[in-house]
Amino acid sequence: MELSLETTVRWLYTFPLALFVILFWLYVRPVRNPREPPTITPTVPYIGHLLGMLFYGGRYIKQLGLRQKTTPIFTLPMPGSRMYVVTDPLLAAAVQRCKTLSFTPLVPDIIKRVLGLDEASVAIARKNLDPGPGEPRGILADWQDLIARGMKPGEELNVMSRNAVSALKLHLDQEQAYFMQHRSYREVDLLEWVRHIVTLATASHFFGSRNPISQDPELVRAFWDYDHGLGMLLVDVWPSITARKAYRGREKLVAALADYLEAGYWEDGACGLVREQIRTSLAHGMQLREIARSELSFWFAGIVNVTTTTFWILLQVYADAELLARIRREVEGVMTLKWCDRNTMGTGRKSSVSAVEVARSGDGFECPMLSAVYQECLRLGSEHSSTRLVKEDTLLADTWFLAKGSVIQIAGSVMHANSLLWGDNVAGFHPERFLQTDAGSNSSEKSTAKQNGFRAFGGGKTLCPGRHFAMNEIQAFVILVVLQFDLRPVSGDRLKVPKKNDKILPVHILEPEEPVRARLQLRSGWDSTLDVRVVFGGEE
Ligand code: HEM
Ligand SMILES: *[C@@H]1O[C@H](CO)[C@@H](O)[C@H](O)[C@H]1NC(C)=O
Ligand SMILES: *[C@@H]1O[C@H](CO)[C@@H](O)[C@H](O)[C@H]1NC(C)=O
Repeated sequence: MELSLETTVRWLYTFPLALFVILFWLYVRPVRNPREPPTITPTVPYIGHLLGMLFYGGRYIKQLGLRQKTTPIFTLPMPGSRMYVVTDPLLAAAVQRCKTLSFTPLVPDIIKRVLGLDEASVAIARKNLDPGPGEPRGILADWQDLIARGMKPGEELNVMSRNAVSALKLHLDQEQAYFMQHRSYREVDLLEWVRHIVTLATASHFFGSRNPISQDPELVRAFWDYDHGLGMLLVDVWPSITARKAYRGREKLVAALADYLEAGYWEDGACGLVREQIRTSLAHGMQLREIARSELSFWFAGIVNVTTTTFWILLQVYADAELLARIRREVEGVMTLKWCDRNTMGTGRKSSVSAVEVARSGDGFECPMLSAVYQECLRLGSEHSSTRLVKEDTLLADTWFLAKGSVIQIAGSVMHANSLLWGDNVAGFHPERFLQTDAGSNSSEKSTAKQNGFRAFGGGKTLCPGRHFAMNEIQAFVILVVLQFDLRPVSGDRLKVPKKNDKILPVHILEPEEPVRARLQLRSGWDSTLDVRVVFGGEE
């Protein structure tokens, strides 16, 4: 068959038009399967939901979901696709069990945007993403195994927690020494104060004494610039312009981390888990300078949520004198006084110094109220959505049809704010709801509902592997602070708890809408010569 010039030209014109019409049919007005979850039609046709999410951030889906509290799942039509949103804990559990719904196919694209990996590294990440038993495992599967193994309860976790808490304690000891020498108090921005300590301590715990931040403290700012622009990096429209600060912060961090890796400092400086990650990445053929990017992701995971959660706990506790007293009583009830010999600096003389130890055993610190405050701060601060790609047409829980290629989200923001799950006081800070005192036939039912509705660590295959470590680190930090320091309001008679800023795309525990200033000082009535130690596992 011969094509004349005329037909060729006609084809060139009509083809894109035809393609557009076909795509419009296929995607923009997708054929609705009658068993699909109920659709919420946007006010602005087609693009309304997308605009809503861009302009209102996480608040958009939260408010949609809270308007239909009893609908367990709904469909949001979008240009080119649709998104399903699950707001019911039991259905969320079904999503997590379902084999045709998976997060991993989405990962290479996300890490490419967020970490700025090059093509070669992304190609490595795409290999053998969801390996079955006996199949070769890709780099992401290997990383996941490694982290899950290294951070599960056990001696390795104890060592990690111990080292992390020593690094935090070093900063608190310096703070204490400062107060003992100088003035009676210091005014701090509470979030900045916690950030500074956690960022520095995590850098030295993960990467050792020659870590990039100890070489250049300016990187603390780069780190938080990166964090605050992560949402825009994820959207990925000219990131070097639309997310300029985050982009520059990231590139600064990566360059410093790459220099650190190339100098070989990691081999005897980094913590065990980080060393194993680097070796695994090398074995999969990644270049050292690109490994700096993947390490940035772990570094990030170790810092952001620990910081903001610690901030909220300290604020809520110090804002309520009664709660503070109760938590101090709890901690003092489980600590033991130790008399120990300590070499006094080089003189060879031994002197008796007293120390207090708070030991973590079994499930926690045996401080039920501290643990309840921890969970309640996570519930209020977390608007996490677990995301899955629908790999095949799926009938979820034998009821709901999900179309291949769409995305399904478990909306933690809706579950954490749903009064049907948590009661009428859902919007407020009420840690008692996590105390397991109410024995009786109803309570077990209630606590299962709570467990299923608690999404701060996600769930299923993507459940946060760092959750035990995070609990150890955060609660130990809070214990060290409440025992040794006071935080007083700058004016007025109690610290004010600002609202959380929920307008952003939530990539971490939400931050306050406005800064909190407080006066940090030594705790009155506490003997500052006592050495406070938090003990994990069977160390002597
Ligand atoms: C309060 C502190 C923390 C919170 C609230 C938190 C929350 C989360 C959430 C919600 C996810 C995603 C789960 C999902 O999509 O279903 C996640 C993943 C992850 N978290 Fe955490 N996390 C915390 C602390 C940590 C720490 C301290 C580390 C490590 C040092 C860590 C390491 C990770 C890693 C490596 C992943 C990715 C898991 C994967 O995709 O396989 N997290 N975390
Ligand atoms: C931090 O916590 C938030 C809220 O639970 C979650 O959305 C986010 O994925 C977490 N980020 C990391 C790096 O762990
Ligand atoms: C259990 O719940 C029902 C209503 O939901 C209530 O009437 C009853 O008193 C509760 N029983 C206990 C032991 O709390």
